[in-house]
Amino acid sequence: MACGLALYLGLGLGAGWAQAQGAPGNAGAAAGGPGPDAAAIQRGEYILHAAGGCGCHTDYKHDGQPRAGGRGLKTPFGTFYSTNITPDPETGIGRWSEADFVRAMREGVGPDGRQYFPVFPYTSFTRMSDADLHDLWAYLSTRPAVHQRNKPNDVWPPFGWRIGIPVWKWLFFRPQRFVPDPSRSAAWNRGAYLARAVAHCDECHTPRNLMGALKPGHQYAGSVDGPEGQLAPNITPDDATGIGRWSLADLTWFLDTGMKPDGDDAQGLMGEVVEHGYAKISDADRQAIADYVRSRPAIDNKVRVPAKAK
Ligand code: HEC
Repeated sequence: MACGLALYLGLGLGAGWAQAQGAPGNAGAAAGGPGPDAAAIQRGEYILHAAGGCGCHTDYKHDGQPRAGGRGLKTPFGTFYSTNITPDPETGIGRWSEADFVRAMREGVGPDGRQYFPVFPYTSFTRMSDADLHDLWAYLSTRPAVHQRNKPNDVWPPFGWRIGIPVWKWLFFRPQRFVPDPSRSAAWNRGAYLARAVAHCDECHTPRNLMGALKPGHQYAGSVDGPEGQLAPNITPDDATGIGRWSLADLTWFLDTGMKPDGDDAQGLMGEVVEHGYAKISDADRQAIADYVRSRPAIDNKVRVPAKAK
C-alpha cells in the first residue's frame, strides 16, 4: 500500500502542472523584457543535466519533443501523463514568471496557488540555490516552445484529490536551503548539494513511509517505491545489501556510463538520468556526488531486485 501511495503522490504532479498551465502567470521571460544572458542559459543547461535531465517530462518512447510532456507513467491507480514544461504560453509554462518557477520548485505551489503532489521532487529542489534556480529558469524559458496539450490523467478517484496536500506538507515538508557542513571539504559539500538538492538521488533511493514521505534515518537504504514501479537499490556503503564494495572510482564511473562494476548496466529510470543527465556533468562533480553518497551511514536493508529488470 505504501508503495502505491508514494507512487501515486509523485505522479500526481502531472495533474497539477496540467491545470496550473491554464492560469495566467505574471510577465515571464517569454513575454518580453530583457532575456536571460547566454552564460546563465549555459549554466542552466548544466543544472538540468545535474538534475538528471528532467526526463520524466519527455516521452522518449514515442520520440516526444524534449520536456513537452505526455509521457505515460503507469501506476496501480491508473496512468498519469507528465506535462509540458516548454515555454509555450498556451500549453506549457510560457506565462510563468521566474518567481512562479522558483516557488513551484521550492514550495510545491503553482502560479494559481495549486498544491503539487510531493513526488514532484520539490522536497529536494527546495534546497537549490537562488543562482541555480535562476540559471535553470534561464535555460528552460529560452528553449523552443512546443505546442502540445497535456493529456488528462487516467486515474481512478479518489487518487487525484489534492485536498490533503497541505496537511501532508505540514507534517513532512519544510521549505529550506542547502546548509553546508563546515567540518567537511568544499568538494564534499558540493557533492552533498548536488546529490540532495539537484540530482535528487534521495527521491528514488530512500524508502518512503505510509504517507509517501521519505523515511528519516533511512537515506539511500533502497526503495520498492521507485518511479514506474522499478525497485531502486540500496546505495548505502553496506557491504552485503548496499554498494559497500564499490570504490569511489566505481561509483563515479557508474554515474558517467551507467556501467556497474559487475559489467551490468543501469536500467530504466537510472539509465535515463545517467544518459540524459549525470553523464553530461563534469567528472569532478560526479566524483563529489560519489564521495558524498559513500560518506552516508551503511544501512543493512535488502531490497529485492526484480527478477526481470529489463
Ligand atoms: C528517477 C529515479 C532515480 C534517481 C533520481 C536516481 N536513481 Fe539510482 N537507480 C534508480 C533505479 C530504478 C535503479 C535500478 C536500476 C537497475 O535496475 O539497473 C538505480 C540504480 C542505482 C545504482 C546501482 C546500484 C546497484 O546495486 O546496482 C546506483 C549506484 C545508483 N542508482 C546511484 C544513484 C545516485 C548516486 C543518484 C543521484 C546522483 C541516483 N542513483 C539517482 C533510480 C534512480
